[in-house]
Amino acid sequence: MSVHISSHPLVAHKLTQLRSVDTKPKKFRELIREISMLLAYEATLDLHLHTVDVQTPLQMTQGKALDQQVGLVPVLRAGLGMVEGIWEMMPGSEVWHIGLKRDERTLAPMQYYANKPVEPKVQMCLLLDPMLATGGSASAACQLLKDWGVRRIKYLGLIASPAGVERLQKDHPDIDLHIAGLDEGLNEHGFIVPGLGDAGDRQFGT
Ligand code: PRP
Repeated sequence: MSVHISSHPLVAHKLTQLRSVDTKPKKFRELIREISMLLAYEATLDLHLHTVDVQTPLQMTQGKALDQQVGLVPVLRAGLGMVEGIWEMMPGSEVWHIGLKRDERTLAPMQYYANKPVEPKVQMCLLLDPMLATGGSASAACQLLKDWGVRRIKYLGLIASPAGVERLQKDHPDIDLHIAGLDEGLNEHGFIVPGLGDAGDRQFGT
């Protein structure tokens, strides 16, 4: 597994705004969308291309077209805000939804929704979830995608804890991780610290 922690100045700047307790839900959603697009830019640098002919207003030439169909897989709820911006850049992507909720006492993920497409056509999935805390949810989501036959998965997240990265590395060493920041650790409630609070509650104003 390779772990990419973005060093892009815009990501660092926007992540700091995202962390601030003064950032309201509307701005919070905008920042999630923007950081997700920047992370997706970095995570898709190795997408395959094929050569195509294109007629410009002046002459025929050759260009490139994407050779791969990408699946965007938000983990509900918090991953939802990461979809739209990336989808605009890759409008041909399929969007698959997975619903996971951490048990507040055990911190174990409980699956409450999964929408497997009837005929999946994707060659690669971007798994979208802002927070990698214990890593239990991300690991379960990766396993589900693998059970559905997905061979290539990249995880995109905003903030990770060292324990979460370690868990994902151990359970799924074949998956690349793209994150905006790596934090100190987890508090007694399983929240990433310093973190940004609950990414779901802060997006949806709950
Ligand atoms: C949060 C977050 C991840 C998970 C991370 O979701 O969005 O899905 O917790 O924790 P883990 O790494 O310890 O599994 P939560 O369960 O709070 O659900 P929500 O998105 O509906 O708020």
